[in-house]
Amino acid sequence: MKHTISLTLAGSLFLALAGMQPVHAAVDAAAAEKLMKSNKCSSCHHATKTKSGPSLKKMAEDFKGKADAEQLIITAITTGPEIEIDGEKEKHKKIKTTDEAQLKNLAQWILTH
Ligand code: HEC
Repeated sequence: MKHTISLTLAGSLFLALAGMQPVHAAVDAAAAEKLMKSNKCSSCHHATKTKSGPSLKKMAEDFKGKADAEQLIITAITTGPEIEIDGEKEKHKKIKTTDEAQLKNLAQWILTH
């Protein structure tokens, strides 16, 4: 009986881990970084340091609890919302792609920080 219980536990743990895998495996970090570079996002967003814009780490922290995090990030980078840099109001840069898969990959990658 004892044996059966531990096997069941190990089984559930395995399933839980296996179930998490695809989410991480699906994020193409190299593609996301390339997209950030080619759009010069990195001039304002550093992985860990605050520049003109919040760090990727800070964004991940802010968005993590939100169910629609991916969509919120995509909206922020595709609709040009008004932001403030050094007291100056300006429109946030719009990313130069409308490719849904690329946008989702970038959003998910930001959330991994
Ligand atoms: C000129 C500097 C600048 C550039 C370039 C820039 N951003 Fe931003 N970004 C900001 C600032 C400032 C904010 C303001 C956040 C706020 O309102 O607190 C912001 C906000 C964001 C947010 C939302 C964060 C939040 O907490 O709401 C995301 C996501 C984001 N930027 C991603 C990008 C991506 C991806 C690119 C490249 C396409 C990019 N940014 C280019 C300055 C910049």
